[in-house]
Amino acid sequence: MIEKYQKPAELYDGLRLHQNENTGGCSPKVLEALASLTAEQVGFYPPYAAAEEACAAYLGVARERLSLVNGLDEGIMAVAVSYLRPRAGHDRPEAIIPDPAFEILAFDTEVVGGRPIRVEPNPDFTFPLVRVLDEITPNTRVVFITSPNNPTGVMTSLDDIRAVASRIPPGAIVFVDEAYAEFSGVSFIPELARHPNVIVGRTFSKAFGLAGLRIGAVTGHPDALEPIRLVVPVYSVNVAAVVAVQAALQDLAYVEQYKGQVAESKALLYAACDRLGLRYWKSAANFVLINAGARADRLARGCAARGIYLRNRSTEPGLEGCLRVGAGVVAHTQRCITAFEEVLCAAE
Ligand SMILES: Cc1ncc(COP(=O)(O)O)c(C=O)c1O
Repeated sequence: MIEKYQKPAELYDGLRLHQNENTGGCSPKVLEALASLTAEQVGFYPPYAAAEEACAAYLGVARERLSLVNGLDEGIMAVAVSYLRPRAGHDRPEAIIPDPAFEILAFDTEVVGGRPIRVEPNPDFTFPLVRVLDEITPNTRVVFITSPNNPTGVMTSLDDIRAVASRIPPGAIVFVDEAYAEFSGVSFIPELARHPNVIVGRTFSKAFGLAGLRIGAVTGHPDALEPIRLVVPVYSVNVAAVVAVQAALQDLAYVEQYKGQVAESKALLYAACDRLGLRYWKSAANFVLINAGARADRLARGCAARGIYLRNRSTEPGLEGCLRVGAGVVAHTQRCITAFEEVLCAAE
């Protein structure tokens, strides 16, 4: 039996620091573009050329090397469906997933009948290259690498990704999930021309604040992309997302401003953790993983009681005592830190 994916609770009545969204929302230019949608645009199936062109230009790739998807979640499911379904007469396809990982990767692998091969993390959560290479077999079809990783915020070096790409069997791919690449400023995309067996996934949910509209992109060599394209529904991205992404890409200053807030928020959170004796990992994303040890539950519950939602990952292997905290809008981070101080200091 496949364990059902535990969708985060629908908490919309407080400060959502538990899903790595941009809690400041999208650029005002996006709202203007949505408001200018006409009845005909809504009535027709959406055209993709202009949005694909804009996304390809933003990512620095040719348009035929990119496909839009209904959020990167759909891109990951499409990778699973196209690469990880068992075929008659063949062993069960394997997906290598370094832990701790975005839960969807193992879930999607299992849903389509593939076998997730979980790889134990290094103690500091850096990429366990040697163990990943050791797990590669002729049945490996996908190696998932998330950089910066969710939930740790730790990056995988481009060298390590190259090393994995050079070792996988023919027909397999490395899928690099770059949902948080705007914050790290590092991407494997410039390397794709030299590595036709690597696909990179991106999203507009995080830095661009479009999570509610559902739009992302996958990019790579057309041959590796083709099986993915075959399984993505023809009109899977809706017209509001198509219009919004073009407006968002015309306002990169908005993203820059948010990135500035993220950097400041992370520095504030690190300093608060130092003061409160909480361990944390330096993050290259818009969230911070904090090890609150035995105080984790109390902290998560105390913050929730104050309307501040954190992601409690403490029951997962390797993440005992760990909470993931969104670090975006500085005023939101300050509210979160005040709650930390109230909960922890009151208890002590
Ligand atoms: C690593 C990672 N990949 C993909 C996604 C999904 O992104 P999207 O909102 O584009 O479906 C998330 C969202 O949290 C994520 O953390």
